Order: sequence, then C-alpha cells, then structure tokens
Amino acid sequence: MRKPLIAGNWKMNTSLEEAKRLVQAILNELDGIDVVEKVLCPPFISLAAIKELLRGTSVELGAQNMYFEDKGAYTGEISPIMLTDLCDFVILGHSERRQYFFETDEIVNKKVRKAFEIGLKPIVCVGESLNENEAGKTEPVITNQVREGLAGVRPSGQLVVAYEPIWAIGTGKAATGKQANATISLIRNIVAGLWNKETAKEVRILYGGSVTGNNIAEFIAEPDIDGALVGGASLKANEFVSILKQTAKLKSTR
Ligand code: PGA
Repeated sequence: MRKPLIAGNWKMNTSLEEAKRLVQAILNELDGIDVVEKVLCPPFISLAAIKELLRGTSVELGAQNMYFEDKGAYTGEISPIMLTDLCDFVILGHSERRQYFFETDEIVNKKVRKAFEIGLKPIVCVGESLNENEAGKTEPVITNQVREGLAGVRPSGQLVVAYEPIWAIGTGKAATGKQANATISLIRNIVAGLWNKETAKEVRILYGGSVTGNNIAEFIAEPDIDGALVGGASLKANEFVSILKQTAKLKSTR
C-alpha cells in the first residue's frame, strides 16, 4: 500500500513572517491525519524557521529546487548539502524551472541523482504543454521526460513523481481525474520498464495543476493517483487542510 502524499508548493510567495503564520494556521486545523504524508515546500529563506515550528508534528519539509553540486563558486545557488539538515523532500524539474530557468532533462537528471545520493527524496515533475497535449503528444513527451529524468538512477521506492500538465498549472483548468489517472498509470509503466514492477508499485505518483478543495476528491478516487502537488490552494490554510482531510477520508475508506 502506498501512503498518500499531499505536498504544498508555495512557489515564490510568503515573507518569513507570512510563512510562519501560514504554518501555524495549518497546524491549528490539522489535528493528526496520520494516513496522509504531509509536506510543505516554502521558499528557501523560511525553511530553517519552519523546521522549528514543525518539530514534533507529523508535517515534513521540502525545498522547491536545489543545485546538483555540493559547494563552490555558484553564486545564488543552494546546495543539496545545505538542505539535508532541513528537508526530507525536494521538488525537482518543476515546469516553471524548465520554462523560465531553462532546466533541461539532463540538468533534472543530475539533480535527481544527487538527491538520492545525499538522502533527499525527490519529487520529480513532468508534464506536457497545451500544444503537445492538443497534438496528441502527451505520451511521447512524458515518456521522454521520465526516461531522461531517471537515467542512471538506481531503483528506489522513495521516488515521488508529480504529473503536472503545464496547461493545468495556475490556470484554474485542472485535468479530469480520468485524464490524470491515464497518464499516471503510463508513468508507472515507464518506471516499471526502466526499473522493475515491484519498485514501480512503491513509487508514489501525484497529480498537480489547479488542485483545490473542490476537485481533490476526483483525483484521489482514482486508483493510480497517490496524492497531489498543490500550488495556489496550498497558500490558504483552510483550503490546504480541506485537501488533506478529504484525502485522508477517501484513502482510508478505499
Ligand atoms: P497550482 O500549481 O496548484 O497553482 O496549479 C501546481 C504546481 O505548480 O505545483
């Protein structure tokens, strides 16, 4: 049984004070929910303070990105070693990184390898653009991103993949549960082909793209969808907690 996972990707939002308030508001409403793994991914500058606030709770921390070198003259970058003390997870290859910061599959692959080497659990994002989707190219695009992203990586059930169709991110236009489940089962098959069936069964694959309290149930009801990577809705405590609670309820009754 894969444990459902809900991760909040705060992106470039919240000052340190706002971040602390948001965490407190989430914790105030949480009371437990042990059947769901809960991960917050605030901006780098808030990680240390939030780690303190999360001490003794069941909520884990993730970073939104990292560089693949340990240290050195890379002005402005964050090293994986700096993150290991603070985080359990790291989001890698988010479409906004690919689009605005020119991250290629090769770069994403270097980061994924590094994350495993150093003991961080990567949440590897893949997804097709609107053009690719409309041209019926979802399958080859996703296949390529998964293969390149995981090239040379040793099989690990600690891997998390997030399927995030670019046309659904921040647009309010989510995929349907069925659409997302179809691509997610494709991803699981690709992982099985690359690695092996047993490991592919352990890997958690999330859906991301305009997930809210109103549509989470549609995704969680699908057999291959193990949770969600939530952007905009993770910035509102009540909305994020509603997503967590619905996930817990649906997954525990299945
Ligand atoms: P969204 O973002 O929920 O705001 O669409 C999801 C993501 O980019 O991870």
